[in-house]
Amino acid sequence: MTYDAAALRAREFPWEPGDAIHVDHAAVGPLPQRARDALDAYGLKRAEPHRLGADDFFPVLDAARALVARLIGASGKEILLTTNTSWGVNLAAYALPLGPGDIVLGSQGEFPANVYPWMAAAKARGFTYELLPLAGTATDEEALLRRLQSDDRVKGVALSWVSFWSGARIDLQRIGAACRARGAWFAVDAIQGLGPLALDVRTTHVDILSCGAQKWLCSPWGSGFAYVREGLIATMEPPAAGWLAQASSGDFARFLDYDPAWHDDARRFEVGTIPYQDIVGMHASLSLLLELGPAAVEAHVRALTTRLLEWAATGRGVRIVTPTAPARRAGIVALATPDLDGDSRKLREARVTHSVREGAIRLSPHFHNTMDDIETVIRAIGR
Ligand SMILES: Cc1ncc(COP(=O)(O)O)c(C=O)c1O
Repeated sequence: MTYDAAALRAREFPWEPGDAIHVDHAAVGPLPQRARDALDAYGLKRAEPHRLGADDFFPVLDAARALVARLIGASGKEILLTTNTSWGVNLAAYALPLGPGDIVLGSQGEFPANVYPWMAAAKARGFTYELLPLAGTATDEEALLRRLQSDDRVKGVALSWVSFWSGARIDLQRIGAACRARGAWFAVDAIQGLGPLALDVRTTHVDILSCGAQKWLCSPWGSGFAYVREGLIATMEPPAAGWLAQASSGDFARFLDYDPAWHDDARRFEVGTIPYQDIVGMHASLSLLLELGPAAVEAHVRALTTRLLEWAATGRGVRIVTPTAPARRAGIVALATPDLDGDSRKLREARVTHSVREGAIRLSPHFHNTMDDIETVIRAIGR
């Protein structure tokens, strides 16, 4: 079956193309019709709580964990629901077995959400957090692997799957395998990768993966998740305690027993009430992604980004910031054009939503964009 973005658009984004073209998923994703419907329906019940039934609480969360697990090849037990990427990054920084004498490697160029928690945890827990210099616009994987192989103190690696500004993608399999071979933890911020790329965590040796759903998963703000590899869960003491992290929390008749036994799955890292309505919205959006097929979405996004890169390579003084090899990029195309402000203005005038990051125009099309959208973008910027 060929991927039909126009039909998808008619079904799930019927207001598009409308008066704007959204190619800014690295900033925020639109909500498909089914997510809007789910949010509206839940919102009506939320406004009048007597309409909420037992199925609108824990079962909603269970269903979302299960769907996330399907999306990334995990088991539902390995998924905790979060409200953003930062929660899972903090979980990794504060709960992975790390201490004085250990080194965690990151990279220059990381989004701050994947830096500050590591800096703070290093200070609090006594390990060293080190940022490796970039190789061009990407993480220097060769230097990283050399350090991993030669320095026994390296006990953790914390990287983004895809760079928020250059769009460069790390080789999860290669770094994960090297970490596993050396007994180092591998923590990944997946927010700029998952969606435009398919993922099977079983093939990657990732220990903890964190992902907000507000961008490429086209879900409400306040929805996200983290994956913790099953073998690790029981060995990690939750850095924040809360009633919903306890196994006894499911039994509303035993609140006053204060039984401090954690859940034996990743729910032990959830703390208190989760924003049900946002998780309902995320569930709807993930169901769409799964219906379309993550691999088909990846191929479609690759076709769109390849067209942008081919156009950019035709001269015009554009410096392509994003690595061009398909295995080294995802949905972001960053272009340093000679007249950045002017070109960004042209895009705004043509009502093409985009971002400017680190001296480049960042375009980030997704599964509902058509090749016609991309031609419009090219015409606008090429004027
Ligand atoms: C790589 C990366 N991590 C994290 C975030 C956002 O973090 P959070 O979901 O905690 O707000 C962004 C947002 O731009 C990002 O690009």
